[in-house]
Amino acid sequence: MDDFIAGMPKCELHLHIEGTLEPELKMALAERNGVEMPYRTVAEARDAYTFDSLSSFLVGYYESMRVLRTEPDFHDLAHAYLTRAAEQNVRYAEIFFDPQAHTSRGVPFDIVIRGLRRAVMDAERLLGVRAQLIMCFLRDFSAEYAMATLMESLPYREWIVGVGLDSDERGNPPVKFAEVFARARREGYMITAHCDVDQPGTHEHIRQCLEVIGVDRIDHGTNALEDEALTAEIARRGLGFTVCPISNGFVAGDLKAGAVRRMLDLGLRVTVNSDDPAYFGGYVTENVRAVQRELDLTRDEVARLQRNAFEIAWLPRPVKDAYL
Ligand code: HPA
Ligand code: ZN
Repeated sequence: MDDFIAGMPKCELHLHIEGTLEPELKMALAERNGVEMPYRTVAEARDAYTFDSLSSFLVGYYESMRVLRTEPDFHDLAHAYLTRAAEQNVRYAEIFFDPQAHTSRGVPFDIVIRGLRRAVMDAERLLGVRAQLIMCFLRDFSAEYAMATLMESLPYREWIVGVGLDSDERGNPPVKFAEVFARARREGYMITAHCDVDQPGTHEHIRQCLEVIGVDRIDHGTNALEDEALTAEIARRGLGFTVCPISNGFVAGDLKAGAVRRMLDLGLRVTVNSDDPAYFGGYVTENVRAVQRELDLTRDEVARLQRNAFEIAWLPRPVKDAYL
């Protein structure tokens, strides 16, 4: 089974590119850019990657980004992920990036997007991995800053397939960004949003995603299962969920494999993804294996997870049909 999972063609839909910053690359970039780090060795840097909640994870996640400064840095970050994805037989990835985590510390938007875009173009040509970029708004910043970021993205509209919402969910409901998402929709972007596990007010946030924002997908979102009306509406719309088991294990102490089981049984379009693999210690293969073991999934069920992902991918029909 482990070989079957490793070998199957895969699609990853919930992956933060900044969350793929492995300690080795982090230390190399720190050196290249003359950034002082609080540790001297890669082993010490790796030891610092420990968390037990979303907020403790986010502190280290943003702190690490100080090493990302130049266009080649963003290229090298995405190139490292895409190389790893190719090794795991990922054929298609939708990659989140957090421009405000960089513009807020003085790194221009165009540096970020140009570096990532170059890696995406190279990966298709050299690695056989197709990828598209999803721009996330940091929900703990203001709606005005999100709108300004959306405006800044428009010259690069053709390089970005959609927009998302991430970072600290507490006190930052989706409706805070209703106007931003409405404008994003008018610009032709697809829309997704994190509804993290272990969040207070989670059902209200999912309801807002459906009724106010009109999302095309829900990131995490397993709490929806506790509400029959929400689950029924998501099923009616055919929306997908991007579940991240190993990440859930860190922030909620539970892989949420039971939710994956129920979603499969209900015919919901559930997918398995890696979220922030450098921090949580597992790329997509390890995440699928973790769920397969926990649930004793059959090969057909494992294949269903991948088919779901290709089906809900933001690709034109003929392109995704070639993967299915
Ligand atoms: N949740 C919220 N914000 C994030 C995450 C996540 O899983 N990963 C990176 N930013
Ligand atoms: Zn995430």
